Amino acid sequence: MFLLNHDGRVPLYTQLYNRFKEEILSGKLPSNSKLPSVRDLAAELSISRNTVEASYLELYAEGYIYSRPRSGYFVSALAQDAVLMSLPRKKRPCGSLPVTDAPCEFDFHPARLDPQAFPVPLWRRCVLDSLRQSSVDLVQYREPQGEWGLRSSIQKYLERSRGVVCDPEQVVICSGLQNSLDIIAHLLKEQRPVVGVENPGYHLPRSVFRNHSFEMVPIPVTSSGIDLDLLQTSGSTIAYVTPSHQFPLGCVMPVANRLRLIEWTKSGGKLIIEDDYDSELRYHGNPIPSLQGLHPAGNIIYLGTFSKVLSPSLRVSYLILPHSLLPGYRRLFQDYYCSVSLLEQRTLAEFMEQGHWDRHLRRMRTLYKKKHDALLRALDRHFGDRAVVLGQGAGLHVVLELKGHAVADGELVERARRNGVGLLPFSITHARDGAGASRFFLGFGGLTPDQIERGIERLVKSWYD
Ligand SMILES: Cc1ncc(COP(=O)(O)O)c(C=O)c1O
Repeated sequence: MFLLNHDGRVPLYTQLYNRFKEEILSGKLPSNSKLPSVRDLAAELSISRNTVEASYLELYAEGYIYSRPRSGYFVSALAQDAVLMSLPRKKRPCGSLPVTDAPCEFDFHPARLDPQAFPVPLWRRCVLDSLRQSSVDLVQYREPQGEWGLRSSIQKYLERSRGVVCDPEQVVICSGLQNSLDIIAHLLKEQRPVVGVENPGYHLPRSVFRNHSFEMVPIPVTSSGIDLDLLQTSGSTIAYVTPSHQFPLGCVMPVANRLRLIEWTKSGGKLIIEDDYDSELRYHGNPIPSLQGLHPAGNIIYLGTFSKVLSPSLRVSYLILPHSLLPGYRRLFQDYYCSVSLLEQRTLAEFMEQGHWDRHLRRMRTLYKKKHDALLRALDRHFGDRAVVLGQGAGLHVVLELKGHAVADGELVERARRNGVGLLPFSITHARDGAGASRFFLGFGGLTPDQIERGIERLVKSWYD
């Protein structure tokens, strides 16, 4: 009988998979021996049949077990050498690993995802499928712009869910936002652009623009997104914007403003960079369609990512170039190869084509909505009218604005940290030192509803007691 640990740190199906794998590799479960039926094992361990099924599917996908119709699963015959090589070895001391800060008990960083949410069994199956189909291609350099299959899957997905109008020909596979912006910067540098950036806004693009010596103008954000009057008079030739969920304040740019912004591009070859980073995650009403879809033939570069809903460490994102920039892109990048590996691209394409991506999206929306709602309840209960919440209803974070607090924000972040609550300083979103209101990121993706409740209670105590 296996003893499983129910503390939630390692998923049950992974524990079960590991235990069977050890038993098979050590020979305790000999070749052709029968595994317990899914139903029996689930009953014996008091876990769900889905959990047992998921671990069996992983073992099956990796070839540790095989199935016989109507008889169940059996241990595969493995070569003895391979078995010996796979047996666990003694761990090497890891003294050379970098020392990092101890993680906080309650980490409210806005970029955290649910630690159990990556679809490991399905991904593993797609890796194996794509590996099987790719043996010849793996020994070749592949398409510089990214695999056609993945570009087509992304195009279809964006068309039906984000209203983006494009051909796969316009899709470029990238390894994250900064890689996309690097490509864009090379395409546009001859025009000596002036980039209008939202203030407050996402801080990471600024270092890319700075590294390319682009002039940057911080443009204030109103409750309707970037301030269009100030953009008009700023001298900017490019606007980098997050219109469907402004980062970090969470507002949505109304359609009248979107049309005005598009109008702005029409004189003097101006251009919009639309960063549509997390619009899959809206918890009420319909998704906000993209700005690109309002004027597909216009000067709009559309950016998206798999970092928010699937995994930030896969490093897969994409950009959609307008037709007008394609010849320049081909000229400058014809000798570059794609920065995302073939296997990762094919796996993701399989994942999308087999319908797992759409189901995963629906699951993530439900999962994060529960966390989002738990956070709003906890804030209401513990802060009451000492604070207001901005940017609720979407994404993976909200912003907490304190009313009439006399202590400096840095001191509050430090007090929270000493009490086990990790907060990313909001000041990083200001292009220039922005004193203003006392605001804090509260990311909820990496915490359970119960941890959110306890973390907010701890935060309030660390600030007010
Ligand atoms: C505003 C914004 N854009 C884009 C991204 C995605 O970046 P990447 O694709 O490099 O992971 C993020 C991630 O946090 C973000 O906050």
